[in-house]
Amino acid sequence: MKRPLRLAPSVLAADLADLGAAVRRCEEGGADLVHVDVMDGHFVPNLTFGVPMVAALKRHTALPLDVHLMIERPERLLGAFLEAGADRVAVHWETATHLDRLVAQIRTAGSEAGVAVNPATPVALLEEILPAVDFVLLMSVNPGFAGQRFLPRSLAKARQLGAILAARGLQAEVEMDGGIDLGNIREVAMSGVDTVVAGSAVFATDDPVAALRRLRSEIEETPR
Ligand code: DX5
Ligand code: ZN
Repeated sequence: MKRPLRLAPSVLAADLADLGAAVRRCEEGGADLVHVDVMDGHFVPNLTFGVPMVAALKRHTALPLDVHLMIERPERLLGAFLEAGADRVAVHWETATHLDRLVAQIRTAGSEAGVAVNPATPVALLEEILPAVDFVLLMSVNPGFAGQRFLPRSLAKARQLGAILAARGLQAEVEMDGGIDLGNIREVAMSGVDTVVAGSAVFATDDPVAALRRLRSEIEETPR
């Protein structure tokens, strides 16, 4: 039995001067998680949230915080993000020299550990780490910005990863992030993804609560 698909709105696309309202809309719209995009201006060409922002969001919502670290040398700040209340943390494969150590640190702190991969990074490279992670975050855009176009080959990648996990009897979840909207969320759901991130499709609309509910109803009827 496939797990029900979960929705993780990305507050990067919200009004950044009013993140408290953004997380309230996530709750009202029935989100399962709040996706928080941490960017350092080095690993990706954009600068967003730091540790105090995660701590502040934690005080404003009971929803689990899904923290996506797009930073160089994640070992420098990982402990601080965990202390700030990150319930799930994804570290990029491309920037983690000692990925196994970071994943162990996340789990020791009682949070869920994920490995994120860029569009050009093959899932075959995850062979060793798969048994140690709770989830894999497949980027369906090149990380750095909200509002980019979905890369369709991500669907085949999700299927490939699902097949690898099934063949090895592993339980890791699959999360997909980037360019997902009402027009493609069904295909994403059918590719075996467990958690969908949506930024612009929720917050670059007049009514984020209604947008979230529409995304939910679109996937509820999807056979999985
Ligand atoms: C991209 C981020 C995404 C992004 C999603 O680097 O990791 O989480 O905010 O936004 P949309 O859904 O607009 O692509
Ligand atoms: Zn993200």
